[in-house]
Amino acid sequence: MPIPGRSKASRPKSAGRNVKGTLWIKVNPNKPETDLIRIAADVIKKGGLVAFPTETVYGLGADALNPDAVAKIFKAKERPADNPIIVHIADKKDVYRLAHDVQAKAEKLMSEFWPGPLTLTLKRSNIMPDITVAGLDTVAIRMPSNEVALALIRESGKPIAAPSANRAGKPSPTIAEHVIDDLAGRIDVVLDGGPTRVGVESTVIDMATTVPQVLRPGGISFEELKRVLGKVSLHPGATASRGFRVLKARAPGMKHRHYAPEAELIVVEGRLNEVVKRVKELTALSMADGKTVGILATDGSVSNYDADVVKSLGSRSDVGSIAKNLFRMLREFDEENVDVIIAEGISVKGLGLAVMNRLRRASDFNIVRAS
Ligand code: TXA
Ligand code: MG
Repeated sequence: MPIPGRSKASRPKSAGRNVKGTLWIKVNPNKPETDLIRIAADVIKKGGLVAFPTETVYGLGADALNPDAVAKIFKAKERPADNPIIVHIADKKDVYRLAHDVQAKAEKLMSEFWPGPLTLTLKRSNIMPDITVAGLDTVAIRMPSNEVALALIRESGKPIAAPSANRAGKPSPTIAEHVIDDLAGRIDVVLDGGPTRVGVESTVIDMATTVPQVLRPGGISFEELKRVLGKVSLHPGATASRGFRVLKARAPGMKHRHYAPEAELIVVEGRLNEVVKRVKELTALSMADGKTVGILATDGSVSNYDADVVKSLGSRSDVGSIAKNLFRMLREFDEENVDVIIAEGISVKGLGLAVMNRLRRASDFNIVRAS
């Protein structure tokens, strides 16, 4: 009910801060304010762009069924047109509108892991515009668990196509400031719900093959999927520790460089004591070359190092904290103007597989084996 003497039209002006034409709106992450969500939902309905938090990373959203709106995502991000976009929904029923031939296995995953960081690729229905799925015969769908994301999808009444809200090639944003850094002036609204909980993107699993295959490791681990599905495979690109050519890309994102900071990044993998030795050697070499060096360590090893900038991702016994900090710290090193980042590798168990997949790609497979 409108309150007399108070104009509703004045709300957008005070709703947030204007940065180069992008409206930055802070929302309550647990109980998003309906009037604020409505401002963003109206933008989606009109074919505009809204960045919003999910539990993994911030997404850059548009109406998935509006080809002109989706085209704006590609333009704002400078994303290659052959890289399809994940469609976000708030109601499982929508799967049957966007996809067909949904198998029992896929339904099992939906009931086990949704809402949450798992994306299923399914046979697309013909309401999906070509541009959203980059011309593929499948569509990638997920139901996020973040309350702001769910409120935005519900309030707009649209399935929302959303890649990560970074410029193509850069680390994914885990706070709204990163979205502003990359996209201010290129998008209409950022809904700021604070830091994201998981920190790495969703797991992408192809459910359109006989044996489901993980195309991108992420927030739901391979071990968890195996427990539910029994039979599941891992695409070689998911575990790759060197670059390889993707000819016919089933997961087109694989062939583009990703997650990369400006600085050169070297990943040192192996047993921890050997890794520490090698990181120290590489640091000395780079410093002798006159380079500014940043080290990305873990809690148990961080005290061994002396360099221009030294950070710890967190404890190796809490890989969740490592995943949460990874992209933010890669961006921080760039702000601190280091020339080279030397990072410790971690175990590929559980979430560690997603962390190492991102780190290896961010380094463009610049990997040193310590032994
Ligand atoms: O957690 C996430 O997944 C985040 C949040 C915003 O939901 N989104 C995200 O989107 O990471 P993006 O565009 O940065 O990565 C999507 C990945 C890409 O590697 C893309 O190639 C793949 O999913 N993908 C999308 N549709 C696909 C399809 N139909 N078949 C195979 N891979 C697909
Ligand atoms: Mg991305």
